[in-house]
Amino acid sequence: MLIVPSSSSETLASKISELLRSGLSEVERKRFPDGEMYVRVLAEMEGKEVAVIGNTRNDADLIELLLLLNACREAGAGKLIAVIPYFGYARQHMIYRDGEPVSSKVMTKCIEEFSDEIISVEIHNEETLHFASKPFRNISVIDTMSRHFLGQKIDYVLAPDDGAFDRARKMAEILGTRAHYIDKKRIDSKSVEMHLPNLEYDGKSVLLVDDIISTGGTIIRAVNLLRDRGVSRISVNAVHGVFARESDKTIASLVDDLAVSDTIDGPNSTVSVAENISRSLRS
Ligand code: R5P
Repeated sequence: MLIVPSSSSETLASKISELLRSGLSEVERKRFPDGEMYVRVLAEMEGKEVAVIGNTRNDADLIELLLLLNACREAGAGKLIAVIPYFGYARQHMIYRDGEPVSSKVMTKCIEEFSDEIISVEIHNEETLHFASKPFRNISVIDTMSRHFLGQKIDYVLAPDDGAFDRARKMAEILGTRAHYIDKKRIDSKSVEMHLPNLEYDGKSVLLVDDIISTGGTIIRAVNLLRDRGVSRISVNAVHGVFARESDKTIASLVDDLAVSDTIDGPNSTVSVAENISRSLRS
């Protein structure tokens, strides 16, 4: 197998190629004077199984991923797998207001047009998988994320909303503790109300878990509520650390441990999902 990294996933791609003992292609990248992107995959690909690893966190990521996939296809790659560690645009998997697109469907359709199979990691909503007409697997990394916290004293695993409760429950099971969720109600597009579950908080150690930290608003709100109730130790975990507006710095200054995965590489990406992706590629 040959691994082709996009610029959004270079470190992760190189870890995956080491684990798989496969080739890792170099990629030439530049911008044309008008700003358009240029990529060139430098490895020999004729007949090889190729995995292109790249996020769709922003528009440029998507364009790069599609260009890389097409470059591999044109160069004669055999089976072509698109591995999307962080599948962006997945939160709009349905129409909430008239006139909106189904963004995750658009992404899926574009990516499958240029590949034979798609693999994502903890996609925001698995409904997106149904938009594909080719094989589309989504990997759970809950076991890997939990391992980081083994050995820490955790009294409760807390989800910041009911949508993340299943994740909290599974992690609590691995960590041998209990899971609960915060009652989060959206008031309008800008404001939400959050109410902690009825528990003993004073002096406790809490692990907050979510699938994604985007602006950090949800987690910061939850952390402040917990501190107000006397929680002494707070750990925060999410698979994908988008950290818009440098919210990683704010969160890190408020909590005792902030650990996200390397689906998006950053200073707090202390948990690697390379083994999970490698296992999936091996199968
Ligand atoms: C919501 O459904 C998600 O699971 C996250 O809770 C949310 O996307 C986090 O967003 P933010 O960090 O902007 O509050």
